[in-house]
Amino acid sequence: MKKTIGFIVFLTAVSTALAAADGAALYAKCKGCHGTDGSKKALGVSEVIKGQPAKDIEADLIAYQAGTGGGSKKAVMKAQVAKMTPEEIKALADYISKLK
Ligand code: HEC
Repeated sequence: MKKTIGFIVFLTAVSTALAAADGAALYAKCKGCHGTDGSKKALGVSEVIKGQPAKDIEADLIAYQAGTGGGSKKAVMKAQVAKMTPEEIKALADYISKLK
């Protein structure tokens, strides 16, 4: 019994760590343009993404992926998100919305 509880605690810790790492890990490739904390205007043209609501960021990323939205430099962003799954986009949006 003690062993079982220990194992469950272990599993919970591992899955929490993985879920938390996801958005942060995905954001690693965005930092160069958007800044470590999301406060830079990427290539001098994007809006500051830090602190935007997750659902807005998610909608922006989906629009870039689908080619239905964005500004003059949308091709840059399309390349960034082209191969992402809806889950990855959600995790990223969630992570960015919480940047301080
Ligand atoms: C090579 C530089 C570059 C990288 C890397 C990059 N971006 Fe961007 N991002 C831009 C530019 C430029 C724009 C503005 C594009 C346009 O004209 O619509 C933009 C726009 C955005 C916007 C829309 C902002 C708004 O409110 O209008 C979001 C959200 C975003 N990027 C998220 C990301 C995420 C998440 C990543 C990492 C997966 C990422 N970007 C990686 C350059 C970059």
